[in-house]
Amino acid sequence: MLLRPFNGKSNNIRYMSESYILGIESSCDETAAAVVGDGEHLLSNVVSSQIATHQPYGGVVPELASREHLRAIVPVVRQALAEAGKTYESIDAIAVTQGPGLAGALLVGISYAKALAFALEKPLITVNHLEGHIHAVLLEEKQKGNFQIDFPLLALVVSGGHTHLFLAQQREHGWTYKNIGRTRDDAAGEAYDKVAKLLGLGYPGGPVIDALALHGNPKAVKFVPSQIKHGNRGTPKAEQTPYDFSFSGIKTAVLRYVELEGMRESVMARQQALAGTGKPSAADVLALCDKRTLDLVASFQRAVVEDLVGKTLRAAQERDARTLFVTGGVAANRELRETFALQAAEAGLAVFFPSRKLSTDNAAMIAAAAFPKLRAKDFAGADFSAEASLALR
Ligand code: KG4
Ligand code: ZN
Repeated sequence: MLLRPFNGKSNNIRYMSESYILGIESSCDETAAAVVGDGEHLLSNVVSSQIATHQPYGGVVPELASREHLRAIVPVVRQALAEAGKTYESIDAIAVTQGPGLAGALLVGISYAKALAFALEKPLITVNHLEGHIHAVLLEEKQKGNFQIDFPLLALVVSGGHTHLFLAQQREHGWTYKNIGRTRDDAAGEAYDKVAKLLGLGYPGGPVIDALALHGNPKAVKFVPSQIKHGNRGTPKAEQTPYDFSFSGIKTAVLRYVELEGMRESVMARQQALAGTGKPSAADVLALCDKRTLDLVASFQRAVVEDLVGKTLRAAQERDARTLFVTGGVAANRELRETFALQAAEAGLAVFFPSRKLSTDNAAMIAAAAFPKLRAKDFAGADFSAEASLALR
């Protein structure tokens, strides 16, 4: 523990101790550990990516993910402590992602966190991965010195596994959440990854499509916006929410366009050319794309961005939200950020994003989200397990 000036003012004579949480995250394809002080000081943020492992398959292979987590977890935690200038003994608590995510992948982080907490006799805190993504924005703002967030707050969590809208309220000990929208099928990031795969652009799809879209005409291909009506797609009424998303239709539309326009051969040629390049850069991929492909990619991105921004802003207005958080891997997207910034300003809403590093999966967000629980002494027993579909409330 370090004694620091109360409220961060160095001339203040009242001192309080800062609490350091070691966060551990292993819900999908990143093994991550980080140390955060008092939910606002980022001391270290180490992420070991498995992209190279999953790249040949065009998506995350659960068994391979667990194996890679097992390999990486110990060195990643050690590195996070070393970069923070901390020892195992000098941290105050350990926080770990309980879910949602891949059960086998989650279990690696959970088993390690449990063992560490037991051996070190430190409190263990469980965190919902989606709450972690939301707190990544708060961590970002606190680091910039912005402590003034107005509620109610609407958070769009948009990643490879999730497209969720949560209305958040602040309570005495942390926040509470109401899920008011979610995808009925694919997550937005999943659509990016699947479209990139079917166009032979490599994996993960988000960053490469984001880069290529700059070079295409976003109005070239018209995609019909997903129409979601209550009662369709066989979703039980109790599970329907008013601001639902759907991204499997646009993926199928891209596939149909490729077939109709006779683009198959050029896709296969690109796949083969990229297979020999190891880890291709966006420039490598760009050099292998013709105008029609770039137009298709730009039009796909425009349609996804308009859908995400349109529904989120409508929900924010109808639910009287005062602040908007946009977070998760897809929140790293350039066009999504620009469109949100522009349209939220027009609607008089404050919109915040994490830095790109805090947008995708990381453990700093887990350590930050755990801080209110540490203060409330909301600790986990030894008997909890991974919850692949853990809900956020
Ligand atoms: O949050 P994240 O790291 O993992 C999950 O919890 O899913 O998100 C990964 C997802 C992938 O689908 C990836 O393609 C997408 O985020 N992504 C992006 C961008 N960077 C990552 N999507 C669009 N634009 C980006 N720049
Ligand atoms: Zn995530």
